[in-house]
Order: sequence, then structure tokens, then C-alpha cells
Amino acid sequence: MNQTETIAVAKPTTFMVSSEPDQTSENIMVEMRNFNAWYADFQALHDLNLSIPEKRVTAFIGPSGCGKSTLLKWINRMNDVVPIARAAGTLQLGDTDILAKSTDVVALRRRIGMVFQKPNPFPKSIYENIAFGPRLHYKGLSRADLDDLVEWSLKKSALWGEVKDRLNQSALGLSGGQQQRLCIARAIAIGPEILLMDEPCSALDPASTSKIEDLIFELRKQYTIVIVTHNMQQAARCSDRTVFFFEGKIIEAGPTRDLFTNPQNKQTEDYVTGKFG
Ligand SMILES: Nc1ncnc2c1ncn2[C@@H]1O[C@H](COP(=O)(O)OP(=O)(O)OP(=O)(O)O)[C@@H](O)[C@H]1O
Ligand SMILES: [Mg+2]
Repeated sequence: MNQTETIAVAKPTTFMVSSEPDQTSENIMVEMRNFNAWYADFQALHDLNLSIPEKRVTAFIGPSGCGKSTLLKWINRMNDVVPIARAAGTLQLGDTDILAKSTDVVALRRRIGMVFQKPNPFPKSIYENIAFGPRLHYKGLSRADLDDLVEWSLKKSALWGEVKDRLNQSALGLSGGQQQRLCIARAIAIGPEILLMDEPCSALDPASTSKIEDLIFELRKQYTIVIVTHNMQQAARCSDRTVFFFEGKIIEAGPTRDLFTNPQNKQTEDYVTGKFG
């Protein structure tokens, strides 16, 4: 792969388009049909049928233990390292059968960016945090390519202005909110199609939370985003669609506005109005 191709992969060409997402067409990024998951004998997810649309923000909500993280872990095959975890049914990322033994997990994960609850930068410089993934996935990048990619990713995650003069300092010296934006920059530097965020703001103060929400709003022009959140206001503010889980089942899924203002199910209503959970 030459350098030009490499950069084209890492920085999607649609980056330059700053228009609002096209509301008229909806392609499906992740599709699940009769998807079930277990930890040993315990069934954590029951018969899920769900389509996650491309270039939208989908919020997963539901009480602790209802299976939100388990589902994210199956989408990027993180459960491969959990010997008691198994799944059945259909789970697709685009045309790729996620569960197939033949699926190349490294290639799959290059298409998926993951952001966790607690910011987890590597104990390396800010620059190296971003450069690490592209170096691993795209061989032959020059220093100039990497410099360009690091700057692009940090600008895209609204951190560049705060760190451009300290790129060689340790990422561990950043504030929690900055570290989380760094983790988002690190995730997008490999050019994923989808970002999975598992409670990305729960360790952050309100100002940092607001920055991440603005960022999610911005990034949805280009990426499909799934955000797990316990914060109902956050789901209402920054998602297009919401899925309500309860005890491993999808109780209701639909446009966020409908789910919050006109829920079809009593359990959904009780949950979004704070009566339980
Ligand atoms: N590695 C594991 N081994 C055994 N059981 C697990 C494992 N991981 C999760 N579980 C169980 O699966 C169920 C779903 O857990 P999961 O972490 O997906 O819930 P969650 O909706 O993300 O909860 P929270 O909101 O607290 O993060 C829980 O009952 C949990 O105890
Ligand atoms: Mg969880």
C-alpha cells in the first residue's frame, strides 16, 4: 500500500463534507437477527432483532446488568477472550458476519472504534497514543503522514488547540475530559466506520461531558455511533435513535424523540421518567 492510499483509508474522503447527515436515506451498519448471548448457562441477551443505521447516533439505555456492554462486546468480538461467553443468531457489520470463525478479527476491529467508561490512554506521549494504531494497521506510513494524521485526529476530536504545543508530553498528564477526547482521537485515527462508546461521560464533569456530547454531534456526520448511557438527558440530547433494554431483551427501539415523549411500552415509560433503574 502506498502512502496516498494509506492516508485515504485512515482519513475518510467524506471528512471534507460538513453538511448535516442526509435524513432521507438510511443504510444499515449493524444488523442483528435472533441474536442470543450467554455466559456459561446464564443467558445475557435474548433474541435481539435490531438494525443500527449508518451515520446516526444510537443510544443504548437500560438498568445495570441488562446486557448493553455485552452487546457492544459481541459487536467487536471482545468476548473472544471470555471462554464462557457464547452467542447464536445473526450479527452483521455491513456484509461481514461478525460471529463467523473465518472473520478476521483484526480487520473487523479496524472498522470499529471503542471508547470506554474510564479514559484509558496508553502511558505514552499524546502523539504516540494517536500514532500507535495507524502504525500497526497501515504499514509504511512516513513521519509526515503520521504527523498529518495525528493533527487531523486531534482536530476532529476537538483537542488539537489544547495539546498542539505538548504533543510529546505524557497523555497521563491530561485532565480526564481531555484524556477521553484523546481516546476518541485514537479511535478515529484508524479510520473506523463505527464508534462504540460505553458510558463515555460517566467519569467526567459536566463541562467535559458537554464537550464530548458536542463532539458526538459533530462526528455523526461521518461515523455511525453507538453510545451506552445511564443519563437520560444525554440520550435525549445526542442520539437519533434509542434502544431500551431490560433483562437482556429489547423492550422498545425507535426514534429518540418518540421513545422519550411517546413510549409505546409501560416499562420504557417508567424507565425514561426515572420510576425505576
Ligand atoms: N464476563 C462475564 N462473566 C459472567 N457474567 C457476565 C460477564 N460479563 C457480564 N456478565 C453478566 O451479564 C449480564 C449483563 O452484563 P452487562 O455488563 O452487559 O450489563 P450492562 O447493561 O452493561 O450493565 P451496566 O449498566 O452496569 O454497565 C449481567 O448479569 C452480568 O453480571
Ligand atoms: Mg455496561
